[in-house]
Amino acid sequence: MNIKTVGIVGAGQMGNGIAHVMSLAGYDVMLNDISGDALAGAMATIDRNLERQVSREKISADDKSAALARIHTTQTLPDLGQTDLVIEAATERETIKQAIFEDLLPHLQPHTILTSNTSSISITRLASRTDRPEKFMGFHFMNPVPVMQLVELIRGIATDAETFDACAAVVEKLGKTAATAEDFPAFIVNRILMPMINEAVYTLYEGVGSVKSIDSSMRLGANHPMGPLELADFIGLDTCLAIMNVLHDGLADTKYRPCPLLTKYVEAGWLGRKSQRGFYDYR
Ligand code: CAA
Repeated sequence: MNIKTVGIVGAGQMGNGIAHVMSLAGYDVMLNDISGDALAGAMATIDRNLERQVSREKISADDKSAALARIHTTQTLPDLGQTDLVIEAATERETIKQAIFEDLLPHLQPHTILTSNTSSISITRLASRTDRPEKFMGFHFMNPVPVMQLVELIRGIATDAETFDACAAVVEKLGKTAATAEDFPAFIVNRILMPMINEAVYTLYEGVGSVKSIDSSMRLGANHPMGPLELADFIGLDTCLAIMNVLHDGLADTKYRPCPLLTKYVEAGWLGRKSQRGFYDYR
């Protein structure tokens, strides 16, 4: 199957990053969001991040303008009807994702592959509520999308080989590396990363170390590019909590219990960088 056009639902930090790399690889992109402001913000971010690549001589100014010209924005979900591949990158809440699929499905062509960038929700369950479980799978990018090399490809129980191979070919065209994960809570990256971040929050909660000492311990002592609390702020504390809840509910093991301090921060609306306040103060 030859994929030429890609629809992306959600223009947040993942959606705009996916639009960036898809357009740069030559795909025509239809980027959708219910908010016009979110779409305008996404285009400004993509422009800025492409410019960063131009200034570091990773791409030419012509590559940048060609990529921008390949991205079309829309607030109307049915406008994604003519695309060959749809990647849903909306908020990490199952009810929201299901509502999007319900609105979108009547407009999709029969051959269109439907995927979700979910970081933890069951692909098999999401697929079961669509008309095309065999053409449904997980297509999980890492943040920041233009920089991170990995894409997790997650097969639902019904995903067929043609769908998987078509998505794997897209990853290859993006110049990224695919890791295949089976459909279990949080797949591979977040199954390992989130308990580490949650443990860092417990380390803070129990007074073992300060924010600064926890982060510098892991940056300098384990050579992580970011400390775990800084990384949690970068990912979004609401996303971290949502993933811990999926692990806790799905694997029924107390070792995945979200730290009460993480819950408290989310309840306070301290969501990390996106709300200007998390473990660090960005105001
Ligand atoms: N777009 C394009 N390029 C970008 C970029 C962006 N948004 N952000 C950074 N870059 C580029 C920079 O231009 C720079 O390029 P050069 O190497 O050519 O100079 C390079 O990335 C490094 O950036 P900086 O020098 O500005 O900053 P840094 O060295 O501190 O690196 C970082 C920033 C890449 C984010 C690094 O700190 C890092 O790798 N952090 C860890 C990120 C991580 O773990 N991500 C996974 C999160 S988990 C996830 O995403 C899954 C989930 O479901 C929650």
